[in-house]
Amino acid sequence: MSLTPPRIASTAPHWHWLPWGSDARAEHALAERASAERASAEQLARGWLGPQLGCDPDALPIYRDDHGRPRLDAPFGDRDISWSHSGEGLLVACAHGLVLGIDLERERPRPRAMELARRFFHAQEARWLDGLADPAMRERAFLRLWCAKEAVLKAHGRGLAFGLHKLAFAEGEDGLRLVDCDPALGAPTDWQLREFTPHPGYRAALAWRTATGNTPL
Ligand SMILES: CC(C)(COP(=O)(O)OP(=O)(O)OC[C@H]1O[C@@H](n2cnc3c(N)ncnc32)[C@H](O)[C@@H]1OP(=O)(O)O)[C@@H](O)C(=O)NCCC(=O)NCCS
Repeated sequence: MSLTPPRIASTAPHWHWLPWGSDARAEHALAERASAERASAEQLARGWLGPQLGCDPDALPIYRDDHGRPRLDAPFGDRDISWSHSGEGLLVACAHGLVLGIDLERERPRPRAMELARRFFHAQEARWLDGLADPAMRERAFLRLWCAKEAVLKAHGRGLAFGLHKLAFAEGEDGLRLVDCDPALGAPTDWQLREFTPHPGYRAALAWRTATGNTPL
């Protein structure tokens, strides 16, 4: 297996939107390899990650840890990767020297949003949502919180089982920012969050922090 030097030199996280549906399959060259009914998320993710890292997509040493989190093995052990799929989209991210997580959600009515927030979110977040008078604003805020929380929890690697209530986001000048979290996640200020619309009808969040000696990739 020959692995050429990686192309990503900076610590800025990179992300990319890939269509991920039956129509997209016909268009996407990589999907031609898919024998399954639906191209697997990892196959498509590899198709973007490979060129980013200067490696044959099929040769990328991606493995799943005990919690199912995808990780890169040597010689790419100082890179982190994450992907998320929703509706007809797949969002893939990678970075050098950072721990990252990405989440993608299709915008759709969520009639149980407040019920879920009151039951599973941090009390401070549920209060914020409760205080929003406009139902459409409340639903939008719920989705933003959901994406932000999932992005951090995916970066952390334990998934939702860690507890959605163990981290709290609040609206800041530049969007949501982490204001409280379980010590297992580090300090809230360790984390950066970027909220964005990768494609019409979708919301996404990318969360990252610097990889440290105590918390290796
Ligand atoms: C990880 C999790 C947050 C994903 O949420 P989701 O909205 O269902 O799905 P998304 O599209 O955003 O992300 C799916 C991707 O997350 C990644 N993923 C899976 N487990 C993960 C974990 N523990 N941490 C970070 N990322 C994970 C995978 O890349 C997966 O893609 P795949 O379909 O190719 O396997 C959620 O599924 C979860 O909490 N899983 C529980 C993990 C766990 O506790 N496993 C127990 C050991 S088996």
